[in-house]
Amino acid sequence: MRRPVMAANWKMHKTRGEAEAFARAFLPLVKEAPDVDVVLAPTATALDAVSRVIEGSHVALAAQNVHPAEQGAFTGEISVGMLQDLGCGYAIVGHSERRTLFGETDAQVAEKAHALLAGGLVPIVCVGESLEQRETGQTFAVVGAQLQESLSKVDAAQAEKVIVAYEPIWAIGTGKTATPEIAQETHAMIRERLGAQFGEAGTAMRIQYGGSVKPENVASLMAQPDIDGALVGGASLEPESFSRIVHFQRETAGA
Ligand code: PGA
Repeated sequence: MRRPVMAANWKMHKTRGEAEAFARAFLPLVKEAPDVDVVLAPTATALDAVSRVIEGSHVALAAQNVHPAEQGAFTGEISVGMLQDLGCGYAIVGHSERRTLFGETDAQVAEKAHALLAGGLVPIVCVGESLEQRETGQTFAVVGAQLQESLSKVDAAQAEKVIVAYEPIWAIGTGKTATPEIAQETHAMIRERLGAQFGEAGTAMRIQYGGSVKPENVASLMAQPDIDGALVGGASLEPESFSRIVHFQRETAGA
């Protein structure tokens, strides 16, 4: 059984004070420790503040990016060791905003995922097609290639730890969620590719869906056989909303 994993991607939102206030309000809402991994990804400037609040709880901390080198002349960058020092257990890599706005390549994502695993952190590796790619029938080719290249430096022994996040770009921040069936179709393809690359471990790897996930649609997405969690932007900015997503079993499917 794959354990569901719900991650909040706050992108460039919240000051330290706002992030800390979220964490304080959120912890009591999820204290019954549901059978779900819960992850908060604040901006780099708020990692420390959130880390102090969630320390000792079952809520984990993620960075939104990382640099693969241990240290050096990389102005503006943050290493795996620095994230460990802040208490991060996870880091998002290859988000479509980083790929499209900052030119991040599959090769860089592969280096980052490799460095994270070497440092004992869980990479959340994002993949996803644009609207044009979907409309011209390239979804499987695009996502398949991103997957293969982004995971090229992961060996089978460590693959089980890696989380893949399928985020169709046309669904991110647009309010247009992929229907559960459309999402499942791509998740099934991803599952097949993971199996081909990593064997047994591919079956155990978790695949999140991301793109306009809300309390109202999370249950029907989670009901799909290959959707093991969600990477949530907009609907993760309020404690109540994200706690409803964490408690997705309480929401009604198909709403
Ligand atoms: P969204 O963002 O939930 O606001 O669509 C998801 C993401 O980009 O991770």
